[in-house]
Amino acid sequence: RKPVTAPGLRAMKEKGQRIVALTAYDASFAVLAERAGVDFVLVGDSLGMVIQGQSTTLPVTVDDMVYHTRMVARGLETALLVADLPFMADRSVEHALEAAWRLVAEGGAAMVKLEGAAAHHLAVIEALVSRGIPVCAHLGLTPQSVHAMGGFKIQGRQQEAADRLLQEALQVEAAGAAALVLEGIPTALGKIVSQRLAIPTIGIGAGVECDGQVLVIYDLLGLTPGRRPKFSKDFLEGRGSALAAVQAYVEDVRAGVFPGLEHSFD
Ligand code: KIV
Ligand code: NA
Repeated sequence: RKPVTAPGLRAMKEKGQRIVALTAYDASFAVLAERAGVDFVLVGDSLGMVIQGQSTTLPVTVDDMVYHTRMVARGLETALLVADLPFMADRSVEHALEAAWRLVAEGGAAMVKLEGAAAHHLAVIEALVSRGIPVCAHLGLTPQSVHAMGGFKIQGRQQEAADRLLQEALQVEAAGAAALVLEGIPTALGKIVSQRLAIPTIGIGAGVECDGQVLVIYDLLGLTPGRRPKFSKDFLEGRGSALAAVQAYVEDVRAGVFPGLEHSFD
């Protein structure tokens, strides 16, 4: 398989090929994702919750992200390696450049992801892109803003909030983002944003009309303790191996049958 690249993501959207994304935090899970044909492997700051056992992503540090990105890089061959900028790594353009430099140079990431579309986020996106670091934006339910949102709540349900989200999506695209994660928004809004942007959208709890999908691998394997989030699915149920589970996810995303209505919001 040919390596997946940042410009290649846009080409996939143009050809109508759905993008399959999945998180990984170590080399073994990276190998699993690679073998199953995942396109986009995200070292998410969700590692603060699923690896470190914390209740939010806020305590995750740049050091944590660099460490896990390096582990994942060793397991990948062709999938695009994307790493999250953790909370407050974007507090200034200088800090963001420093953190992204480490994720790319020490960690081996080929793209970094950051949450939000305020003026300073747009400045960070432009600064990274102008230095040759591709950026994935992230809008909707942005977990680093959990306190501002008053919890992990679906975003963009009111018309005004939906209009604002579409404007933000157009702004991150104009700032040079190569892809956009849409999290926790109604299916109809995910569809509109995906139609209006040239760059691909990658949804999680954002409906089946996005250009790709992402899940946390622990959710996909049914390993996350507690109640399963509505947007995820235990793909290991009824299957004999973790590889078969990830392969089923890849097939279902490519075929447009995951997420179903039961995993989506209106
Ligand atoms: O940290 C993460 O895993 C993420 C995905 C859920 C998009 O940001
Ligand atoms: Na994240």
